[in-house]
Amino acid sequence: MIILKSPDEIKRMKIPCRIVAETLQVLREKAKPGISTLELNDLAEREARRHKAIPAFKGYSGYPFALCCSLNDQVVHGMPNNHLLASGDILSIDFGVVFDGFYGDAAITLPIGNVTEKATLLMKVTEESLDAAVAAAKPGNRLSDISYAVQSYVEAHGFSVVRDFVGHGIGKELHESPQIPNFGLPGKGVRLKPGMVFAIEPMINEKGSEVKVLDDGWTAVTCDGGLSAHFEHTVAVTEHGPEILTKL
Ligand code: MF3
Ligand code: CO
Repeated sequence: MIILKSPDEIKRMKIPCRIVAETLQVLREKAKPGISTLELNDLAEREARRHKAIPAFKGYSGYPFALCCSLNDQVVHGMPNNHLLASGDILSIDFGVVFDGFYGDAAITLPIGNVTEKATLLMKVTEESLDAAVAAAKPGNRLSDISYAVQSYVEAHGFSVVRDFVGHGIGKELHESPQIPNFGLPGKGVRLKPGMVFAIEPMINEKGSEVKVLDDGWTAVTCDGGLSAHFEHTVAVTEHGPEILTKL
């Protein structure tokens, strides 16, 4: 069952979503060669607390950090550490907070210093696949139209969609029904209605789609060592179409 949010509840969700978007903006400025992902994590946590919000991931199923930092071949749920970022890296940062009982969740992938053309293209295609998915999140469409929008766009550009992780409903819980795969045929699943709020999050690989989770129990990496990118927005379906809540 998908929990519908009233217009007033969607308004309340804009606050955590804006805090997440602003924090990612701060991190974007700081993510340069020579900084560690642990420093970025601490900065994200301070930003959340400064806005009286609570980091959503810390303690979630035992995850120990506020931020997920997935470097290069890491897909999602990479853990912050003392390793220093270097020119040529790409870094996915995923952040969520809860404020006034509602969650916001978003992610971006950033180039660190100068990166290859292939890496730049992977990030661009992944972000554009999210744009296509958001455009499909409108009343009258079906759930899998979102999934199909990502897959068709990504595969047309020669990259591959991660199957093992999905987007999700979001509201008073970080993860609500439904699950939103980033692949599938169009025209399947529930019809989209105003009041649905989704965290749409394509995870896209440069080479094969296969991923595995490392022994730390969290870090997902590509099996073939290829790069991976991740973009996420929290999006409300409204009668006027999709509204991105995690946009500045
Ligand atoms: N954006 C990711 C998700 O929605 C981040 C979750 S990290 C976790 O699943 F630690 F909270 F699991
Ligand atoms: Co999410």
